[in-house]
Amino acid sequence: MPPLQFPEIRRGVHAVSSLYVQGRKKKNLSGRAVMGEGKKAAFATYYGPLHFLTVYPVVADWLKNCPNPPERILDLGCGTGACGAAIALALQHTFPDLAPPEVSCLDQSPWALGEAKKTYRAFGLEAKTKKGTLPRDFPRTRKADCIVLGWAVNELSRESNTVLLSKLASALQEPLTIFIFEPLSSKLSPWWDSWASRLSPAGVISKIFKTEQERPKWIEKLDHASGLDHRILGARVLHSAGQKVEAVATKE
Ligand SMILES: C[S@@+](CC[C@H](N)C(=O)[O-])C[C@H]1O[C@@H](n2cnc3c(N)ncnc32)[C@H](O)[C@@H]1O
Repeated sequence: MPPLQFPEIRRGVHAVSSLYVQGRKKKNLSGRAVMGEGKKAAFATYYGPLHFLTVYPVVADWLKNCPNPPERILDLGCGTGACGAAIALALQHTFPDLAPPEVSCLDQSPWALGEAKKTYRAFGLEAKTKKGTLPRDFPRTRKADCIVLGWAVNELSRESNTVLLSKLASALQEPLTIFIFEPLSSKLSPWWDSWASRLSPAGVISKIFKTEQERPKWIEKLDHASGLDHRILGARVLHSAGQKVEAVATKE
């Protein structure tokens, strides 16, 4: 936050919100979203935490039926690291005896990667960061990986969206986990249904998630000042259906 003050961050929240709703047709949405200190601070202190608070309960619930938890998190379009951190934390809370997961973050913004490092450090986690552009720099995946794409796919061009979907579908030929989060509004992700049907043979399901949580005071204050309301958090989620607990029990 320093040296910014509350009014500058509030303006940043407003600017990011308008950009994603009204300004998305102009080129370079993600670049414009982090132009200026106020917008950066809005990502770091408001949108990132809101994503964290949305992802954590989805993943914590999913992990309840997960005999083979993911060992590595690949946070693609990681921004400030909120999604990967929420998954890593949910993993640690559900499986306290396991070693912390490896985390690799990819983003095209060097600023975001620096923030992601700070986010992980704040949670006592280590993360590798890599500057890269999707879909070109889609990482090599392996069994027991968990890929997360949080609020990032809607920023890709139509061509990149198609290529990324193919790369994900190939990666999912191995038993790995995937979580894709997007805003509730279907206008922002018109590709959603086609992704859901393409990934469904790999056991990926689509759902709408909503949760009511007590907001951290800072979020409540910024909500109030910006005319926004995050008492209920929500997202569209595409995620692996999960592993069958009975199958593991039979093996034993
Ligand atoms: C709205 S932010 C979401 C960040 C983070 N996943 C979260 O949920 O808080 C979208 C992020 O995707 C990144 N991004 C957009 N297009 C990308 C691309 N083609 N390759 C890599 N990163 C990209 C942006 O730089 C930005 O950090």
